[in-house]
Amino acid sequence: MEVIEAIKTRRSIRRYKTTRVNNKTIELILEAARWAPSWSNTQCWKFVVVRDSHIKAKLADTLGENPATDAIRSAPVVIVACAELGKAGYKQGELTTDKGDWYMFDVALAMQNLVLAAHSLGLGTVHVGRFDAKKAEGILEVPQGFRVVKMTPLGYPDQEPKPRPRNELSEIVFNNKYGIK
Ligand SMILES: Cc1cc2nc3c(=O)[nH]c(=O)nc-3n(C[C@H](O)[C@H](O)[C@H](O)COP(=O)(O)O)c2cc1C
Repeated sequence: MEVIEAIKTRRSIRRYKTTRVNNKTIELILEAARWAPSWSNTQCWKFVVVRDSHIKAKLADTLGENPATDAIRSAPVVIVACAELGKAGYKQGELTTDKGDWYMFDVALAMQNLVLAAHSLGLGTVHVGRFDAKKAEGILEVPQGFRVVKMTPLGYPDQEPKPRPRNELSEIVFNNKYGIK
């Protein structure tokens, strides 16, 4: 699938078929994440691939009231993106900008690669950010110095959602200076 087409036709998928996703396909998708750009190529990301239904159920409980809770529980696979702190945005251990640790940014780049690659292979995903990350870290036994950032269910879509609206370019693009149309 061509990149622009993949970007425009990807949708958040919250209902999945039970069809198994084979390991080769998961590897291709993770490979797309691996090739994302990152701060000074520091690649702070780690991915936990969860197939165990008990662990998926526990992760789903960390979402509480969230439209993606059932998807995390029932999709054949859940991929949890973690980040090592103190790498993105740092030089020799010192922060280099006023924005703190850039791990959220770098993990987002990797996960967007991942969801687009999944979509190009006929698989569905949804970026899930609203959950109790501390609880998820406990469930997955994530070590000190790392955070769970986000997760996505992964599987074959059992729905075809309509596109959600986007702001027009005229509302978000300025010329030369902020606010100048
Ligand atoms: C950082 C981030 C966090 C998100 N967290 C959730 C979430 O917790 N639950 C959920 O159902 N969708 C979540 N979404 C999905 C958005 O609701 C969705 O991307 C948006 O409505 C646009 O729809 P689309 O992905 O189908 O284009 C999240 C998306 C992003 C980028």
